[in-house]
Amino acid sequence: MDAIAEIEAAPSEAALHEVKVKYLGKKGLITQQLKELSLLPPDERRTAGARINALKQQLEAAIEARKAALERTALERQLATEGLDVTLPGYQFPVGGLHLLTQVINRVTEVFKSMGYEVVMGPELETDDYNFKLLNFPDEHPARDTQDTFFMTDGRLLRTHTSPMQVRYMQTHRPPFKVVVPGKVFRNEAVDATHEAMFHQLEALVVGERVTMADLKGAIEEMAKALFGTAARTRLLPTYFPFVEPGAEFSVWWQNPKSGKEGWLELGGCGMVHPNVFKAVGYEGVTGFAFGFGLERLALIPYGIPDIRYFYNGDLRVLRQFRGAL
Ligand code: DAH
Repeated sequence: MDAIAEIEAAPSEAALHEVKVKYLGKKGLITQQLKELSLLPPDERRTAGARINALKQQLEAAIEARKAALERTALERQLATEGLDVTLPGYQFPVGGLHLLTQVINRVTEVFKSMGYEVVMGPELETDDYNFKLLNFPDEHPARDTQDTFFMTDGRLLRTHTSPMQVRYMQTHRPPFKVVVPGKVFRNEAVDATHEAMFHQLEALVVGERVTMADLKGAIEEMAKALFGTAARTRLLPTYFPFVEPGAEFSVWWQNPKSGKEGWLELGGCGMVHPNVFKAVGYEGVTGFAFGFGLERLALIPYGIPDIRYFYNGDLRVLRQFRGAL
């Protein structure tokens, strides 16, 4: 068989190597012929040498070409077995979403930001002073009993409301300002469908010259309209909170677009900042209003969630229903 044909027929790299050794190896046929050149008479040596060298180069080129071809088919075979079938339908990766409460918190804080309020956060572990005393809850006052909580051995406690941030904020800022504080609060509650030991509130505090009860009502009204639509109405009913005077509870008139059911949704408390609170932070010559409310209520009732515990038990059947709700 002629050498070129042998090279082109080599079925594998190993076989090709054998052919290479056979012709070009130390004892290969071509090598042999080159060695024997010295035996020829000088005038024949030159033409014979040129011929053998040309043949040698031809064989080398053929070997290289065959080697490349063998590598290419090996690669093609590998790709064929490992290959990705791009016509297969892809896997559907599970897509997460924001928790309904997170959506509500984002929505409400956006509403206040659009009205020019600053959004700040405060510590969940508080001192008795910030949670009660500086908010005008005297020691032993019965108003404390409505806000039992969890205590550390060093006397600190898990805050029962976001109101302590009123004091912290005023101690570190000069009026006028408008600020809201979303965050977790804690109560030592018997847990049931409407009570949890941990829930969320949003606190608002506005202080400046001649801030009035009308401004308070206006702020609540604006928030209600932004959240429930322009037909929303609000109502204040007088009540007692130690850190405001006068104090009120506020409700929003709310209609369920699906069931048509309507009624007052009692949201939280509000009032004009009590002079004792201003005195505690050294403010003079200003007035202000504050309000605070539970964020769970804002989600529970409009979305018809029957049990507050659904918010926290991580049941995907519940959580999935509210993906992208707001
Ligand atoms: N901190 C009160 C609570 O958790 C709610 C509240 C009432 C907040 C009146 C206020 C307010 O800012 O003025 O029960």
